[in-house]
Amino acid sequence: MSASVYTTSAKVVILGAAGQVGHALTELLEQAPGIEPVPLNRRQLDITDASAIQDQLSRHLPDYVVNCAGFNRVDAAERQPDRSMAVNRDGVGQLAQACAALSIPLLQLSSDYVFDGHYASGYSEDDEASPLGVFGRSKWEGEEAIRRALTQHLILRVSWIFSARGDNYLLRMLERARHEAVIEAADDRRGCPTSADDVARVILAILRQLTCGINVWGTYHYCGAEITTRYGFCEALLAAARQYEELKVQQLKPVAAANLNALAQRPASSVLKCRKLLATFGIRQRPWRSELQRVVREIYGEH
Ligand SMILES: NC(=O)c1ccc[n+]([C@@H]2O[C@H](COP(=O)([O-])OP(=O)(O)OC[C@H]3O[C@@H](n4cnc5c(N)ncnc54)[C@H](OP(=O)(O)O)[C@@H]3O)[C@@H](O)[C@H]2O)c1
Repeated sequence: MSASVYTTSAKVVILGAAGQVGHALTELLEQAPGIEPVPLNRRQLDITDASAIQDQLSRHLPDYVVNCAGFNRVDAAERQPDRSMAVNRDGVGQLAQACAALSIPLLQLSSDYVFDGHYASGYSEDDEASPLGVFGRSKWEGEEAIRRALTQHLILRVSWIFSARGDNYLLRMLERARHEAVIEAADDRRGCPTSADDVARVILAILRQLTCGINVWGTYHYCGAEITTRYGFCEALLAAARQYEELKVQQLKPVAAANLNALAQRPASSVLKCRKLLATFGIRQRPWRSELQRVVREIYGEH
């Protein structure tokens, strides 16, 4: 490889750097030749603070901003709609405006929850958004705010993120499996789990191609390969965890999502079709099952 490939480096500001994807992306970009990550957590930059956004972006003048920050607690969003909208819609909107003023492209993470879940065969990028709850609406309105403010944007919708850290379904179910004899998981909610590390891999692959100056702005989908249900994911999780620990759980019960009494309504099927990402960037879906094994190894301290 010629030395000139790495002579210029792309500076990438990562917002929400302490979250699942933000952390995974920071670790990955720190190892990536030709990329200089600038990770900022919420304390360093709160995206609801417009002047702080301007200050930080003017100070760092990055080549790209990747926004991994978000208010992601789906049930809490129903109780705190103002907070959800302030971060996911208004914060994202002012971030896009600040990026536009400085001509900085923005890569924004969005969610499968912008859809209502009625398409069992899966959603492509041009299917109509129709969120069921406050969280999904706030993510959709955040997307729209970006589209209005900034041409140079890439919105990447992802789904069912898991990792060995933070607040996620995998860690919550594992904790319950350690302390409860019977746990329940919805067998009528379909989707594709995706590891945070896998999302980071996809973002890096996208950034690599953006640095070539190609015009690929727009909206894309990415999720792990293989459709499952929450029940199917839990079954795989428990099998993987039992290799390391005797769990208290004796029974994993399949139930209808409606019986779980969650505050927010969630899409019944939120499978994302990822063909556009493959056609544009050549990025393939990685199977979530192998990622799950790796994450469980990490949880039990075996890297
Ligand atoms: N998790 C999923 O299953 C899922 C599914 C689909 C899409 N997504 C999207 O993927 C992205 C990354 O998700 P994730 O799971 O990595 O999220 P996460 O673990 O919840 O991390 C989000 C981070 O954003 C920070 N944050 C919250 N409000 C902020 C603000 N006003 N300013 C700056 N930072 C703020 C949080 O800090 P605090 O912890 O201090 O609040 C947290 O560190 C998000 O856009 C999310 O909507 C996630």
